[in-house]
Amino acid sequence: MIEGLLPPGAVAAEAFDDDADGRLPAEEARVVAGAVAGRHREFTTGRLCARRALARAGLPPVAVPTGRAGEPCWPEGVIGSITHCAGYRAAAVARACDVTVLGIDAEPDLPLPDDTLEAITLPDERRRLRLLERAAPGRAHWGRLLFSAKESAYKAWFPLGRRLLDFSDAEADIRPDGSFEVTLRVPGPQVDGGRLTGFGGRWTAYGGLLLTAVGTVVTTPRQVLVGTPTN
Ligand SMILES: CC(C)(COP(=O)(O)OP(=O)(O)OC[C@H]1O[C@@H](n2cnc3c(N)ncnc32)[C@H](O)[C@@H]1OP(=O)(O)O)[C@@H](O)C(=O)NCCC(=O)NCCS
Repeated sequence: MIEGLLPPGAVAAEAFDDDADGRLPAEEARVVAGAVAGRHREFTTGRLCARRALARAGLPPVAVPTGRAGEPCWPEGVIGSITHCAGYRAAAVARACDVTVLGIDAEPDLPLPDDTLEAITLPDERRRLRLLERAAPGRAHWGRLLFSAKESAYKAWFPLGRRLLDFSDAEADIRPDGSFEVTLRVPGPQVDGGRLTGFGGRWTAYGGLLLTAVGTVVTTPRQVLVGTPTN
């Protein structure tokens, strides 16, 4: 399901349940040593998806350790992202020479509690959510979708920005056509000869899930980049 949201050159692997026999290499096993069973299962299936995605991309299915901020550490020259929620796990990868950023997120298609919605949105985002609700009621839980889009953007941001982004540091604009844009409200780093100002992504609501994927960067001067030209 999520692969259809990715930019050309990126591939994904997904799972809808966990394999009780899933085994992890030592550098991954130490990340969840002592974790509760549910966390162990989601992490293990996420890493199995990561290796399946790497293999689909024609890359060696190596271990993917975890960095200090919780980020997956992909092999040199590879970018990727992992997500899990109840009933769904996925990983997406691409060669860094083909795709500039990748961030994926899955959420149950359920309402966000009001206090959470308030905490993760800006006034303009809440105004646009009301318009979406009026234009397409029942198509998706729009507040939860916006939350997912911002989490995808954070996962795409982290390898470039290397720091936490607060929910008020970026503003998401969800469009009913299955696309969205997340605009940074803080200065971004230089990317491909321009300054990073935001991200573009795609979303879907299917089978009780909301899936989002960020696969392009927006820079100033205004350019929308999927990947770095290789020639
Ligand atoms: C990190 C975070 C985005 C994870 O999202 P989530 O919905 O809780 O959980 P998901 O299952 O979708 O994703 C978890 C995966 O995210 C990845 N992840 C964690 N930290 C990460 C980081 N700093 N950068 C990139 N990916 C990260 C990991 O692969 C993790 O899975 P793993 O531990 O099994 O490897 C979220 O917990 C968080 O910290 N959000 C606050 C920052 C934010 O989203 N700001 C929005 C600004 S617009």
